[in-house]
Amino acid sequence: MQAHERSPYLDCAQVHHESDFKYERYCTLVGNVTPAAADDISSDDAIKVAHKNQIGMVLFGLGRAGMIHLSNLLANPRVSLLYVVEMERARYDSVRARWGDRTPALVLPQDSATALADPRVDAVVVATPTFTHFEVIQQALDAGKMVFSEKPIAENAEQSRLCYETAAKLGLTVFCAFNRRFDPAFQAIQQAARRGDVGKVHTIKTVARDSPLPPIAYLKISGGIFHDCAVHDIDLICWVLGEFPRRALASASAHIAEIAAIGDHDTVAIVLEFDSGTIGTIDISRNAVYGYDQRLEVFGPKGLLTAENERPVNVRHQTSSGDTAVPFYFSFPSRYSEGYVLELEAFLDHVQGKIPLPILPEDSLRVSKIASACEESLRTGAFVTIDYAQ
Ligand SMILES: NC(=O)c1ccc[n+]([C@@H]2O[C@H](COP(=O)([O-])OP(=O)(O)OC[C@H]3O[C@@H](n4cnc5c(N)ncnc54)[C@H](O)[C@@H]3O)[C@@H](O)[C@H]2O)c1
Repeated sequence: MQAHERSPYLDCAQVHHESDFKYERYCTLVGNVTPAAADDISSDDAIKVAHKNQIGMVLFGLGRAGMIHLSNLLANPRVSLLYVVEMERARYDSVRARWGDRTPALVLPQDSATALADPRVDAVVVATPTFTHFEVIQQALDAGKMVFSEKPIAENAEQSRLCYETAAKLGLTVFCAFNRRFDPAFQAIQQAARRGDVGKVHTIKTVARDSPLPPIAYLKISGGIFHDCAVHDIDLICWVLGEFPRRALASASAHIAEIAAIGDHDTVAIVLEFDSGTIGTIDISRNAVYGYDQRLEVFGPKGLLTAENERPVNVRHQTSSGDTAVPFYFSFPSRYSEGYVLELEAFLDHVQGKIPLPILPEDSLRVSKIASACEESLRTGAFVTIDYAQ
């Protein structure tokens, strides 16, 4: 008689590996997750919408970033998207053509107070051009709403600080959407680096080359390459290390005439020096023709951690004449698609009082200060020491 192996049915239930974030999300969708323990958060974080199953929201801006948030908001069962505020009717009409009756009502910016006065609205997403953030955020806070804001919070550290101060006074919060912190590969590197998997970090390096080249109309109002692009890399490096640099050095050039003509740069190199002795380097371009080049590397005496570029299809074709694969993801909406979903989930968790604010005000204020130090370094040609007390 054939001897049977021990039945796998007798073993404990099989569980997914912690790295399978997509399965984790599936569990969240079907409600198969352990709720956060009540004492995980302080009473200050017990937000007034904790009891609500659906969070009423308003989205400001239907541009490049806004369209990503629109589809994630509409797809999220925890969200009831009530209004979109957009100044260009044509953008709204194309959304309506796609989403039909599910499209929330359009509100023009001059009427946004009406949407914010709706008591069903708990929170807003701000995805308008950076120079408008300050006004939109202040208006939303004054109306008693929680705020998810695209980075940077405002055009400068002073305005950003005011937003955070207003929020604190009113018992509200402002979430700065540094989406790269929510990228699963970068999260794995952050956890490994903090665990000491490579020992004391000697160097940390990011490569961030944009694709496609952003329109000049966007670049003109972007706030400049340091506050628009470098803030992502600066935040990523500081978050991985858990440390802020004491000084920064920057070099930049403009190879593209149209970018030179608006006084901005398309190519940047930054060196960040940390008290621990760690050196951070950032390599940025506005235009990588081979795809959205996004890499992170952490090096130490015990080894190297790298997050390489990701491709939409993981197939390699090797022949006698070479080795080919499809290009990397083309741009941020596809490369960071998971991160955008996960950052929204984190914000919703926060609004429902399950977790503290995931990105601290002092983190984004310091990042803004470091970006300004880089601009100063470019002007002076020297390292700029950063005084965080000021
Ligand atoms: N995290 C990321 O990966 C990422 C990527 C791109 C942009 N961003 C950020 O998102 C913000 C928007 O950038 P974008 O590239 O989407 O810009 P965009 O120009 O493509 O879109 C901005 C949209 O806002 C609308 N708008 C302008 N003023 C408005 C107002 N007062 N009220 C309502 N709508 C208004 C415009 O008509 C436009 O549709 C910026 O702060 C940028 O830094 C973040």
